[in-house]
Amino acid sequence: MAEAILEVRDLHKHYPLTQGILFKKQVGAVKAVDGVDFELASGETLGIVGESGCGKSTVAKMLVNLEKPTSGSIRYKGEDLTKLSPRALKAVRRNIQMVFQDPYTSLNPRMTVGDIIGEPYEIHPEVAPKGDRRRKVQDLLDVVGLNPEYINRYPHQFSGGQRQRIGIARGLALQPEIIVADEPVSALDVSVQAQVINLLDRLQAEFALSYVFIAHDLSIVRHISDRVGVMYLGRIVEIGTDAQIYEHPTHPYTQALLSAVPVPDPEAREHRERIILTGDVPSPANVPSGCRFRTRCWKAQERCTLEVPLLAVPAVYRLADTPAKHDSACHFAEEKQVVPPEDALAHAGPLKETAAGTGPAAEPPGATLLKKEPPGPGPDLDLDEKTGEKTGDGTGDGTGGEDADGGTGGEDTGGGTGGISKES
Ligand SMILES: Nc1ncnc2c1ncn2[C@@H]1O[C@H](COP(=O)(O)OP(=O)(O)O)[C@@H](O)[C@H]1O
Ligand code: SF4
Ligand SMILES: [Mg+2]
Repeated sequence: MAEAILEVRDLHKHYPLTQGILFKKQVGAVKAVDGVDFELASGETLGIVGESGCGKSTVAKMLVNLEKPTSGSIRYKGEDLTKLSPRALKAVRRNIQMVFQDPYTSLNPRMTVGDIIGEPYEIHPEVAPKGDRRRKVQDLLDVVGLNPEYINRYPHQFSGGQRQRIGIARGLALQPEIIVADEPVSALDVSVQAQVINLLDRLQAEFALSYVFIAHDLSIVRHISDRVGVMYLGRIVEIGTDAQIYEHPTHPYTQALLSAVPVPDPEAREHRERIILTGDVPSPANVPSGCRFRTRCWKAQERCTLEVPLLAVPAVYRLADTPAKHDSACHFAEEKQVVPPEDALAHAGPLKETAAGTGPAAEPPGATLLKKEPPGPGPDLDLDEKTGEKTGDGTGDGTGGEDADGGTGGEDTGGGTGGISKES
């Protein structure tokens, strides 16, 4: 692995549970993140996957300093961010930016797109002097495949995918090295998810970015990740290269998650084993003793109640030359192929895109994305995801006419390159 740009060790975030009004007494803690370790190499994408509530967003927020860890360290190029003075932290933080989950609620509806994307320059004026900001923002719009002339519009005038492009442009404004993307496509329609993932892929190559890409679904991260970490109840339970996780999973929880990933081949689908997990995810305020997965694990034994399994290469594979030799927090870790190898392979590589708004995507094998209706009211203008071209009757602000000239730099043209060239 290339040199680690980010090293996370024994990271915890416990939210205190209190009782009493005047004299608050701590009676417990929500262990949202409870001992997470991982590294991110320069230029790589680490996918983090797990069910809702397992602590993914809390990890993301700690990486970008929106939450303070209860304990543990986050080293960026060797420097522990949890120990820096506020001034030193501000300088370093510029390099780690976040793209949020829901483009419908994460953009301030009262600000223009130009002000939203340019807002980080208020905190870091050294990146873009005032006179230069408008041009930089327009360059950023171009880079993410939106028409630079949209700079004075408001978020409600864009579709979900376009809003997420605005969120990505904002994330790029300070020329970061690391982007933490927290479920960046979960709120988007299936026909748009591929476009946004492919945009992130292209930007990574163009600007040498490293990504922490969070998702609740294993099928999405496969397309973009070099390595994948699987989280359960505040901890990473298995981590490895995408081939190790998808083709040679050793943790029962990963195997269960994989068994729920849709398989495109109907015959393979019919013959494969489905692992149905019983019971609910325990509360992070009341984590089971020993292995935290034991209350839902079909392999659980007495040892699992008594001993916490460490995230390490299982003893049985330590001396072997096999892809099963990767970190897994299970006393009885054992390789089990859940997704047929040809399907596991099909999950790699770029996603095929379909025109937005044409209904469900004609999915290539592996483009097994979850269908989710975008929340909130639809956009005023029916704009083509990629080009910004008006595709329906605009009823918005009467500016619809200017859409006809379309966008600049769609997905396939590579977009512009100005404004956010990397500093070395
Ligand atoms: N500010 C908070 N106070 C108390 N509990 C919280 C807070 N933020 C998150 N949690 C709890 O921490 C757990 C992990 O949340 P989160 O990181 O948002 O999970 P995910 O992103 O994986 O869905 C959840 O049980 C959530 O309810
Ligand atoms: S340690 Fe035990 S309970 Fe935990 S995953 Fe392994 S077999 Fe299941
Ligand atoms: Mg979340």
